Amino acid sequence: MELRFTEEQNMMRKMVRDFAREEITPFIERMEKGEFPREIVKKMGQLGLMGISVPEKYGGSQMDFISYIIAVHELSKVSAVVGVILSVHTSVGTNPILYYGNEEQKQKYVTKLASGEHLGAFCLTEPGAGSDAASLKTKAVKKGDHYVLNGSKIFITNGGEADTYIVFAITDPSAGTKGISAFIVEKETPGFIVGKDEEKMGLHGSRTVQLTFEDMRVPAANLLGSEGEGFKIALGNLDTGRIGIAAKSLGIAEAAYEAACEYAKERVQFGKPIAAHQGIGFKLADMATAAEAARLLVYQAASLRAQDQPCGKEASIAKLFASTTAMNNAIEAVQVFGGYGYTEDYPVERYFRDAKISEIYEGTSEIQRIVISKHVTK
Ligand code: CAA
Repeated sequence: MELRFTEEQNMMRKMVRDFAREEITPFIERMEKGEFPREIVKKMGQLGLMGISVPEKYGGSQMDFISYIIAVHELSKVSAVVGVILSVHTSVGTNPILYYGNEEQKQKYVTKLASGEHLGAFCLTEPGAGSDAASLKTKAVKKGDHYVLNGSKIFITNGGEADTYIVFAITDPSAGTKGISAFIVEKETPGFIVGKDEEKMGLHGSRTVQLTFEDMRVPAANLLGSEGEGFKIALGNLDTGRIGIAAKSLGIAEAAYEAACEYAKERVQFGKPIAAHQGIGFKLADMATAAEAARLLVYQAASLRAQDQPCGKEASIAKLFASTTAMNNAIEAVQVFGGYGYTEDYPVERYFRDAKISEIYEGTSEIQRIVISKHVTK
């Protein structure tokens, strides 16, 4: 079993690390005040990160899936906001078109998404359809050469900022999950209304909006796959998406551990560094152990995906474990920093706020357990 990155992957990792340290770190304060990092996204496009695993013929960098996961992981060590923007853009904003789109759709949309000219988003969740994704209410009615969509979506990451949206809607109300279809929707489409921008606990700078579709006419040419294939497209791409969120969680878990470790070696109490007190040393040992285990699970799932192997179970396991580890490590990092950890002078309170959502979006920890239990009991 080979557990080392290739030379190309290592070069990419260094490039992303340097970019994150030099370009993203100075931007964090602005993101914390709520600014969406447009300039950073633009630079990521120039570096080839927005289409990292997209084939060259569609304008991408044609690197493997592991390289994409390395990018999300390394970006998230500095900023989970930038990590999640890239993860949503790639896994669930671009890949559905790459995997299910026809040639014309790929040429028209994937090329722009891969270059970073367009940002992608994914619209599945609705006010009444969160974990029970199949219970969505948005309807699409075919009229000649277009569909008319009516309905609303919530918690749309990259929403409002994105140019291209993968929207799920019911085309046949009598067919259950087989009556859901997927559409590529452009932001400028009349009837596409951007609503409330959520004020969140963390991930400040990442957009999370409500969307309403009012008699929105989408060309029939923008149907993704066939009618009724939407639920499969949604869940199939969430498998990949969950590895991205796991990588984002891993970034936070490692950042929290590293910050706590560094601080504990410097902070002296009772005549010695607090790292030398067993109560803190054991915390650091547990944080390091969990982060290392998360790392192996994330890259195991990524490696299966890179080889086009089934990875639904492994993706859910990685997401469940890495997101729990991100939260636990962030809680413990604040504890190691003590009173200072509760202030905005140190990054650990940001890790704490940014970690929580990892246990919720792209399938809550409870949903991951449902997916895993279905796999292990079938
Ligand atoms: N890939 C492809 N198809 C799949 C699949 C997968 N991973 N999982 C299930 N399916 C198919 C099934 O095969 C089945 O088709 P058949 O009838 O032909 O067999 C069909 O989908 C229905 O399957 P289930 O009966 O298992 O579906 P369900 O309604 O019981 O739901 C669930 C299963 C796992 C609970 C699912 O609803 C789910 O994952 N819910 C969580 C939703 C979620 O993750 N939302 C995230 C929103 S996106 C987001 O957060 C992005 C962001 O902005 C950050």
